[in-house]
Amino acid sequence: IRIPDVIQKKRDKYELEPEEIKFFIDEMVKGRIEPVQLGKSGVSRKLRIYHLKSDVNGLVLQWNVTKGTDRPHRLHDPFRFILLLSRVGETLSWPEEWKTMLVDKHSTGGVGDKVSLVLAPALAACGLKVPMVSGRGLSFTGGTLDKLEAIPGFNVSLTNEQMRECLKHAGCFIAGQTESLVPADRIMYAARDVTATVDNISLATASIISKKAAENISALVLDVKVGRAAFFKNLNDARLVAKSLVEAARDQGINTTAVLTTMDVPIGMAIGNSLEMMEVIETLRGKGPADLVELVKIQGGLLLNSVGRTDVSKGQQLIEETLHNGAALACFEKMLVHQNVDVRLAADLCSGGYQLTRAKYVTAILSPLSGRVLDIDALACGSVCGALGAARARASDEILSAVGIELLVTVGQSITQGQPWANLHHEEQSVASDLLVKLQNAVVVGNAPHATFDAPTTRIL
Ligand code: URA
Repeated sequence: IRIPDVIQKKRDKYELEPEEIKFFIDEMVKGRIEPVQLGKSGVSRKLRIYHLKSDVNGLVLQWNVTKGTDRPHRLHDPFRFILLLSRVGETLSWPEEWKTMLVDKHSTGGVGDKVSLVLAPALAACGLKVPMVSGRGLSFTGGTLDKLEAIPGFNVSLTNEQMRECLKHAGCFIAGQTESLVPADRIMYAARDVTATVDNISLATASIISKKAAENISALVLDVKVGRAAFFKNLNDARLVAKSLVEAARDQGINTTAVLTTMDVPIGMAIGNSLEMMEVIETLRGKGPADLVELVKIQGGLLLNSVGRTDVSKGQQLIEETLHNGAALACFEKMLVHQNVDVRLAADLCSGGYQLTRAKYVTAILSPLSGRVLDIDALACGSVCGALGAARARASDEILSAVGIELLVTVGQSITQGQPWANLHHEEQSVASDLLVKLQNAVVVGNAPHATFDAPTTRIL
């Protein structure tokens, strides 16, 4: 088999054989595929590995016909792709007695989305084991690993032995793909980010579920984001993604639930890696913003229910308790130490006595009017942070951890003209005027008599 032949076959819309896909993935992992070939065959919008586009069309068609009663046979195609992606590397293995305790959560990506960072230790505090293989920022969204790396010393590249130790003592770890763990996703993930292919349903399914399959977990909850600051902007697309993810995960033997949650306004009050990490710690200290806590509780409750620990509402209550009684914070602190953070620093950080590095400059963004805050555009906030260095434009770009936005108001709150609604944290003294204007326009202030806090709306599939 030769790579150009595989690409040509794909280009001419012939179905690839499993061994051809396997060959392609193997060669990619060995670094023997030129970037331009990767773009042409796997992640370009025109040509996708293994019928990815027609899978999506097939999925729509089949779901319409069968109304979801039977599994559409076309779904087998991305499933095989996922299986191959995850099997190129190794699958994690755990002691038999943990079998029913192993759970995880994954989001399709949002702005200010730090739910995983709170939920993993909260679940650990409830006695579950959370082997979380996570990702970096994609496009305008933040990445869990990038956020964690804002903490000095934090190591996201764990050996299997370190993962096991971390699960044993802290109950959770959060790590990245490595050269042996889902290595193919590591390469495709970075390539997708810079080729504008993050919103492809099959590639997202393969990316997310290959990681979860490699974790060898029993139950999974998926947070499928819907809205202007999500990759899947409307409910129809988000439903398709959710179905694709749930079917693919169940095909891997994982008991899976998906929730659809809105992603229009930033989650919590912090956007940007360091600022979000500080908000995570505050949330683990029982002082988190209401919308973030709600998302953590919803997904935690579902997982506790999935593994038969309790019903969903009692599960939510248990999760909330761990945020108030210090149990989740204690698991988080242990995780930091097992992932290479200095013991003293971890303790100081968790007691609120240590602040992560702040950006050199802070610019207050003022309200144009007096009235109520009717909207804060998460997409605008995420793009401005990205443009100032909080996200990558190229796979090799360094991230500026301290860049971000601190929101000072929530939707529904009153504000007066000239009052700051956000602080922009930046590293260069001057901020390009188009970015400042974009951020200034991200807030809508008006006089609607009854603007209330827009809690995340959820749909459980
Ligand atoms: N998270 C992932 O791991 N992959 C995606 O494609 C999107 C979110």
